[in-house]
Amino acid sequence: MDYQISKVVKGLAPSGIRAFFDLVLGMKDVISLGVGEPDFMTPWHVREEAIHSLEKGYTSYTSNKGMPELRKTITQFLHKRYGLNYNFDDEVLITVGVSEGLDLVMRALINPGDKVLIHQPCYVSYAPTVQLAGGTPVLIDTNASTDFKLTPQALEKACVKGCKILMLNYPCNPTGASYSKKELNALAQVIKKKDLIVVSDEVYDELTYDFDHTPLATLPGMRDRVVYMNGFSKAYAMTGFRIAWASGPAEIIAAMTKIHQYTMLCASITGQIAAIEALKHGQKPVQDMKREYNRRRRFVVEGLNELGLTCHMPQGAFYVFPSIQKTGMSSMDFAQNLLHEQKVALVPGIAFGTNAEGFVRISYASSYENLKEALERIAKFVKRDEA
Ligand SMILES: Cc1ncc(COP(=O)(O)O)c(C=O)c1O
Repeated sequence: MDYQISKVVKGLAPSGIRAFFDLVLGMKDVISLGVGEPDFMTPWHVREEAIHSLEKGYTSYTSNKGMPELRKTITQFLHKRYGLNYNFDDEVLITVGVSEGLDLVMRALINPGDKVLIHQPCYVSYAPTVQLAGGTPVLIDTNASTDFKLTPQALEKACVKGCKILMLNYPCNPTGASYSKKELNALAQVIKKKDLIVVSDEVYDELTYDFDHTPLATLPGMRDRVVYMNGFSKAYAMTGFRIAWASGPAEIIAAMTKIHQYTMLCASITGQIAAIEALKHGQKPVQDMKREYNRRRRFVVEGLNELGLTCHMPQGAFYVFPSIQKTGMSSMDFAQNLLHEQKVALVPGIAFGTNAEGFVRISYASSYENLKEALERIAKFVKRDEA
């Protein structure tokens, strides 16, 4: 039977990460540095709160927008942490991960043919989310010479007629690139000049190592043109709870809520209760995890550079993005050969953008011991042709 699957869906490229990890499945003794997920367990006090909520019988739907207590806790947190002010009632929407938020914001804003600027290498979902919403991605290449940061010049040059939205992500998955306040201010000038709306995915904000994270929405003139996205998956090690939020101008949040209420209804109540606990009492575990990620970051970057796999020091998230150009292999060959010969899984750069060939992504959300062993195996692999 011909199911006449949607042309847009047919046209989407399959996820490069998925294709690669199908290879890993079924292999034994693999050290996986591939997944973008904390290796830490959700802090016990958060899990306990979720368990108690079930015991007390909290098993219902919540308000479409999310529990008022969670939305209030988020606005208070943002005010205290960053001086950001949002009204909990109409400027915050609780979503099923940042993933759902991204889908909602694109569908809420895009009219057929609208263009969305995306810096690449980037998170694998951005371009497909834009395409599914009927928009056209306009990709801006970032490169190693600027530590993969989007520059104001590159943004201005790429901003052709019809560009309406900038999809910004910092700290960036896969490169770890982030921006100082000064760098953000320079980007903000172009954003204003080109009259762009910014979807700012700041899900790794708490994992910023060398300076304080600045939300774009705190800069002059930005609050009314930024949809700020954040969530609990990364900093609080809560990927499975699937809780995040979008905050921004009431009109955009209302449009997103309209789609959310017809498609998702609401995020899970158990996850929302856990998120309240995480935000109210979870800052110490976040800082402890961050300290450990930072230790691993330095260790892995140093180890890779010693092997000649040139690697800039990423400023945030939990990924490093070394060059494998000296091996002469494509990123896919490097990843596949390393997996078969030394049983280390990492992600070929090509999964994150056409300009990311020659690089691989290594996640250091894995134990120090695993990372040490993985570096030894990578050393054997890289040096095998030099012997
Ligand atoms: C940059 C970025 N945004 C969003 C997500 C999705 O996060 P969530 O678990 O909140 O859906 C990820 C997950 O890897 C990510 O790396």
